[in-house]
Amino acid sequence: MDKYAVIGNPIEHSKSPEIHKAFAEQTGEPVEYGRILGDLDDFAGDVRRFLAAGGQGLNVTVPFKEQAWRLADELSPGAHTAGAVNTLIRLDKNRLRGDNTDGVGLVRDLSVNQGFRLRGKRILMLGAGGAVRGVIRPLLEQQPKRVIIANRTASKAYSLANGLTAHGQVAGCGLDELDGMQFELIINGTAAGLQGEVPSIPDSVLAKGGWCYDMLYSKDATPFQAWGYEHRAARSLDGLGMLVEQAAESFRLWRDILPETAPVIAMLRG
Ligand code: ATR
Repeated sequence: MDKYAVIGNPIEHSKSPEIHKAFAEQTGEPVEYGRILGDLDDFAGDVRRFLAAGGQGLNVTVPFKEQAWRLADELSPGAHTAGAVNTLIRLDKNRLRGDNTDGVGLVRDLSVNQGFRLRGKRILMLGAGGAVRGVIRPLLEQQPKRVIIANRTASKAYSLANGLTAHGQVAGCGLDELDGMQFELIINGTAAGLQGEVPSIPDSVLAKGGWCYDMLYSKDATPFQAWGYEHRAARSLDGLGMLVEQAAESFRLWRDILPETAPVIAMLRG
């Protein structure tokens, strides 16, 4: 068996072991996948010990994604822009490659699973923290007409957008600057939902027939999903599909085989 694991702190709630176990069974790959409660003061040591024990790759979650970015010996372009790594791949001589599969996961869930065509669309991205940085470049690669990154703290949105202008039509603003704008897709990448809140945005920003997508997920509708229903979104989705898709892309990077996600999403919805 080849050893993989997810490392984070806390880690108990992580669904990754369940997801990767399903992928391993489905593909017949000899993958054993565990969870590691990372030491807040010794992430690098935890990684080193995992490699010494024969570990082949890691998923990295809160709060270690930035540390994983610094630790990696080489980075994919997407991970480079994201400033965060959620997938570590063991190379020869114990070297590590860092990648970030969150953006691919978001794009695949929207475009393949849900059938939303991103190309040519006006997209509002709420938030400018690590979650948004992690997905923004693959999103821009789909050639939307325009992406506005809107954040409660406007300065963070400006600086994130400014660093991305080479990759497409993108601009930053504050949540209070959205009056008069309309979007076919609103993606919530803020942490507001964790406090049961929704970013304060004007009622009119969702175009008629527009979609809402929350990168968070929970058993019941997330607060932003509920906002979507209240504002008559054609679809209002949570981030469970994205979670499974980012896992599938990690699995592909490690094993060179892309598992089917639909049965695993259905199992988790159970
Ligand atoms: P993460 O890495 O999960 O993105 P983060 O870097 O702390 O976490 O960023 C959290 C994001 O959620 C930020 O964009 C934050 O806005 P600020 O930059 O203004 O702090 C946003 N956020 C958190 N709570 C929010 C709320 N109640 N309303 C609107 N935005 C919120």
